[in-house]
Amino acid sequence: MITKDMIKHTWRAKVNFIKVNNYDELSCKAAAMICAQVVLKPNSVLGLATGSSPLGTYEKIVEKCEKGEVDFSKVSSINLDEYVGLDGSNDQSYRYFMNTNLFTKINIDVAKTNVPNGCATDLQKECEAYDALIEQSGGIDLQLLGIGLDGHIGFNEPDSYFEKATHVVELDPSTIEANARFFASEADVPRKAVTMGMGGIMSAKKVLLIANGKNKKEIIEKAFFGPITPEVPASILQLHPDLTVIYSEN
Ligand code: F6R
Repeated sequence: MITKDMIKHTWRAKVNFIKVNNYDELSCKAAAMICAQVVLKPNSVLGLATGSSPLGTYEKIVEKCEKGEVDFSKVSSINLDEYVGLDGSNDQSYRYFMNTNLFTKINIDVAKTNVPNGCATDLQKECEAYDALIEQSGGIDLQLLGIGLDGHIGFNEPDSYFEKATHVVELDPSTIEANARFFASEADVPRKAVTMGMGGIMSAKKVLLIANGKNKKEIIEKAFFGPITPEVPASILQLHPDLTVIYSEN
């Protein structure tokens, strides 16, 4: 367990912070970084995220793939999280999101794509197996992240410590409220999720976090220009040696 005090005086890497003018520019840059990773290492392990932030990035990746600029046939992927209780056929599940927005549109082998199973009968075992999978993959080459309004990455919610392992989490009321836009009503948003922990995220060789909108400005400032604290989970990324943040206010 990494507490606040342990990291008070620790070394910080330089954040490569790129401010862009709009969401399209953000998506182009993020897609270019991901595709460059795949061109340089065709069998890359990509850590992928869901939510509204990466939608444009995925569209641009699909375009590049259609133009034959990049080949995903040897790529494997490991997603960050999944709601507990939703299976891949549920259109609100993150497996469904990934299949619909990316996997079925590019030449990735779907058998090499991984999303936690939120319907596993033994969720603890599922979490342990997910960490073993990350390790056996040789580690994530590039991890794509969004950021929640409360600073969560994956579904690592604000807490008094950083949780290292993949785990089951109770979603914050603010996250439930924010994600209600995808469901018929707030009551339909699952209350729990399985999320990769900070260990999996921080062990990625490169991290790329994307965020857009004026409503994310305050949390971006806190996370990347404020103190490192588990109360702002994304702030741990300041310790990552290869972090790029792309932000657009519009
Ligand atoms: C999703 C995920 C979350 C989102 C975050 C931001 O896989 O891990 O951390 O990245 O909730 O969501 P959006 O992009 O919808 O603002």
